[in-house]
Amino acid sequence: MKQNIYDLDIFFSGYFNLRKNESGLNLVLEEPAMDSLLPDLQGIDVLDAGCGFGKQCRFFSESGVNSVTGIDISEKMIGFAQENNSAKNITYLQTALEDAVFPRESFDLVVSSLAFHYVEAYDRLVDDIFNWLKPGGRLIFSVEHPIATAKPEQQWIIDEAGQKMYWPIDQYSIEGPRSTKWFVDDVIKYHRTIQTYVNTLIDQGFRLIRILEPVPSDEFIIGRPDLEQFLRRPAFLLISVQKR
Ligand SMILES: C[S@@+](CC[C@H](N)C(=O)[O-])C[C@H]1O[C@@H](n2cnc3c(N)ncnc32)[C@H](O)[C@@H]1O
Repeated sequence: MKQNIYDLDIFFSGYFNLRKNESGLNLVLEEPAMDSLLPDLQGIDVLDAGCGFGKQCRFFSESGVNSVTGIDISEKMIGFAQENNSAKNITYLQTALEDAVFPRESFDLVVSSLAFHYVEAYDRLVDDIFNWLKPGGRLIFSVEHPIATAKPEQQWIIDEAGQKMYWPIDQYSIEGPRSTKWFVDDVIKYHRTIQTYVNTLIDQGFRLIRILEPVPSDEFIIGRPDLEQFLRRPAFLLISVQKR
């Protein structure tokens, strides 16, 4: 099932405000980790799968790539991207990842930040991306960490004083949809184990380059003590692979 939750007004404005003040986890954890995995961008063709507001597309556009294609299921996201993050070498398309069609060997690099956990058929998506990549091309993506997606209620167990005691793991090996509350009820994310994320790529013919589970630096924790919790449980999983 494809869910276009970002087009719900209340969800979109909640997510917009979260990203606008840039104090969210994306800026401090996910984006630096993603940047650290990027290859040389000069002259290459890039696909951003689940591009959201188009911030990353703009970054690529200004970093010497030949072309960037940003796709997203959300009309509001693509509308924002077109209005605020356009450039001559960027093409935005409103489409679900599951429905996207590109000629074989179209891209040198496919990136995707925090969108794959919304896709049910991960193996089909991996197959599609493998075909869209040129030989030697890379897929680099991030997802919410499986430790976070395993249990539908994504929250710490706290003691009577409100202190975080532990992060509960449950149903880890039972893959499939999880209905969670994030701005609204019934946001559907698909939980998969780390072995599924990685082995599906290897079985497809990708070579594993790097796995990251980013943590905040000590200096960040001094300024933002709330981030210390991500030394106790990871927020994101990033994987970089190369088409053989
Ligand atoms: C957490 S946001 C991340 C946006 C962007 N990649 C970023 O890092 O700023 C997830 C994005 O994935 C998009 N998305 C969710 N399910 C999708 C699907 N099935 N196909 C394409 N895009 C999808 C959402 O509309 C949203 O823009």
